[in-house]
Amino acid sequence: MKGMLLPDSLKEKTIIITGGGTGLGKSMGKYMLELGANLVITSRKKEVLEKTAHELEAQTGGKVLPIMCDVRKYDEIGNVIKTTENHFGQIHGVLNNAAGNFISPTERLSHRAFDIIVDIVLKGTYYMTLAIGKNWISKDQSGTFLNIVTTYAWTGSGYVVPSACSKAGVLALTRSLAVEWAKYKIRSNAIAPGPFPTEGAWSRLLPGDLVKKFDPAERIPLKRVGEHQELANLAAYLMSDFSAYINGEVITIDGGEWLRNGGEFSHLELISSEMWNTIEKTRGK
Ligand code: HXC
Ligand code: NAP
Repeated sequence: MKGMLLPDSLKEKTIIITGGGTGLGKSMGKYMLELGANLVITSRKKEVLEKTAHELEAQTGGKVLPIMCDVRKYDEIGNVIKTTENHFGQIHGVLNNAAGNFISPTERLSHRAFDIIVDIVLKGTYYMTLAIGKNWISKDQSGTFLNIVTTYAWTGSGYVVPSACSKAGVLALTRSLAVEWAKYKIRSNAIAPGPFPTEGAWSRLLPGDLVKKFDPAERIPLKRVGEHQELANLAAYLMSDFSAYINGEVITIDGGEWLRNGGEFSHLELISSEMWNTIEKTRGK
């Protein structure tokens, strides 16, 4: 699986990735480094961030600045802006990727369980967006926001209701600001990924034997999960100037999963060729 953009596509751009120490944030960050970006990775865990920063610098030869920041704490975001500007000069893009999630029947959730997800996903994203947006506007700088949502941001989904509510809010934020802040040359877009295996998501959404019982690939018309490089290609494109005219868009990358599961007759894939022959013979009788 190869990178798709020209080698210097993100040269001299400084990009902040929240939750950039693990999973998809790390994979997208790695590709952005390969394309010449300076990277800032943030999350709550200092050791994880530092380990990832060393690893990515060694792999790509790029520059990675790890900064501890809980996206639920507005003051800590101020520190990310200050430290990044001192180190790299200017911020060009923000990838709002940090999230929390778990599966549970909603009636089993405490209000604190609901809060913790909404605080990370929705509040964390609007805190980052507000702080960085104000900074860009006050300095008359252009910038790009890229938000990671999910395909259930618009359908909703049982058993992950706090996440669904939060991602729906992030989608509304993306589209609203794409219009409102375009006058400041600030773009906002989102990606809605289907299943891409990561330790963080799999351990919480498919714990124990669930992964054997509900193989995500089975729900997907292409019959496979996503590869990290496929997502990284899309994210780098949306962060780059090649996508300068894309604003307020959410791009789904899920192998056709959500449409398949909304399609009234999609389950007819279970019908074998022989059965179709029989059905054909009885047609119109
Ligand atoms: C029900 C739960 C719970 C669970 C925690 N709680 N886990 N309730 N089911 N599995 C409740 C607790 O009982 C508590 O409520 C409240 O939530 C807060 O609990 P804490 O102990 O403070 O939280 P903790 O369990 O330490 O952390 C939860 C978390 C953590 C913050 C969500 O898992 C985390 O750090 N996650 C970050 C990474 C992550 O989740 N990655 C996956 C993203 S995947 P009470 O009332 O008891 O105090 C994703 C993909 C979507 O979004 C699409 C896939 C296709
Ligand atoms: P992940 O590895 O668990 O990533 C989540 C990241 O968020 C972690 O690095 C975590 O770091 C960080 N984070 C959590 N709470 C935070 C907080 N309060 N402040 C700052 N950072 C925080 O899972 P992932 O699968 O890569 O998910 C990445 C993104 O993709 C998420 O937005 C997720 O909803 C989305 N997504 C994933 C899939 C999938 O199949 N994997 C599908 C659709 C959407 P710390 O714990 O160190 O803080």
